[in-house]
Amino acid sequence: MFETLPALSPDPILGLSAAFKKDTSPNKIDLGVGVYKDEHGVTPILSSVREAMNILDGKEDSKVYITPQGHQGFINGMLDLIFGKNATVLNDNRVAAVQAPGGCGALRILAELLVRVNENTTVWVSDPTWANHIPLLGDAGLTLKPYPYFDKDKAGIKFDEMMATLGDVQQGDVVLLHGCCHNPTGADLSKEQWQAIAELAQKNGFLPFVDTAYQGFGEGLQEDAYGIRLLSESVDEMIVAASCSKNFGLYRERVGLAAIVCKDSNSKSIAQSQIQSVARGIYSMPPSYGGALVDIILNDPDLFTRWESEVNEMRDRMIGLRKLLVDNLSNHVDRDFDFINQQKGMFSYLCIEPEQVRKVRAEKSVYFVDSSRINIAGINQNNVERLALAIASVI
Ligand code: LMR
Repeated sequence: MFETLPALSPDPILGLSAAFKKDTSPNKIDLGVGVYKDEHGVTPILSSVREAMNILDGKEDSKVYITPQGHQGFINGMLDLIFGKNATVLNDNRVAAVQAPGGCGALRILAELLVRVNENTTVWVSDPTWANHIPLLGDAGLTLKPYPYFDKDKAGIKFDEMMATLGDVQQGDVVLLHGCCHNPTGADLSKEQWQAIAELAQKNGFLPFVDTAYQGFGEGLQEDAYGIRLLSESVDEMIVAASCSKNFGLYRERVGLAAIVCKDSNSKSIAQSQIQSVARGIYSMPPSYGGALVDIILNDPDLFTRWESEVNEMRDRMIGLRKLLVDNLSNHVDRDFDFINQQKGMFSYLCIEPEQVRKVRAEKSVYFVDSSRINIAGINQNNVERLALAIASVI
């Protein structure tokens, strides 16, 4: 019966890894999937994570199911990290939350919850947004509509157009925002822009839905939570999907958090029961391991400090790589790429056309997403000049 289905082309992001593996060029460069890599192209296990693995190894004595909501220490630690210790919404017991299988799992169960509330819900997503937002939210039954976000010609945010579109969204609609390190553009909202969005959400009654997958990679662990924290103080209700893949380097362990800020503790109990029931209907309960590691790190002051300095190190390295790329490009291309230095996190848009991206892939074995999104962490001292020359060859 399955032959009746169409065969699909490879995933626009994950498909690049398979194509890169097949490429036999000794000069190939992988700037595709968003994983952090060190100077040697290796995605390391953080030393704080190694230590947590050792601690867990000594104390885990069973593989029995964990609770449907996940590790409570993980949930509490993540809520403090995201909303801030002693946040009003936490002190008021207004946040329902579950450990989820990765940021993707969190996005999907929140999407399923929104459908339970209203199957005709519209979610407004930035144009462009992370490619996988579309199936994760759309396949759950939500209607997706774009709001203007990034101006490729000016390599900046079209804030006035964004606000004009959001000004017309209906009460009960949902607006998906990237907490920090916008994927795919690296163009983040300023504090003033977050403020304007928070005021609009209050006025129009739309539900902010924040996806935060790179906390710590933009400006710092606390700084990168600015938008979420401001919204949580400004609106009665919002939802948050968080990922531990990047900042803990726990990609394959699939650990994230789905959080629902409710208007009071009574609604929180309802939301908690609903989100657990959504999860039970899809995967029952989350995998334990990654959440157990994050629980250990977030709740041990010394390990937390070590982890934070490792996050800072990854961020500082990526900031340095942005500069290195811009400097190299300026030696070979007569175009101003300084906007790359202003962007945040793991990604930048080169603002070149898909045909140019495909050409650079076919002719120079440099792999990045057709939209021209590059993974900054895939750059190193050894490949940066080749990369700049490859980009120059198509401009
Ligand atoms: C990315 O955007 O490259 C990462 O979030 C990995 C993925 O699943 O797409």
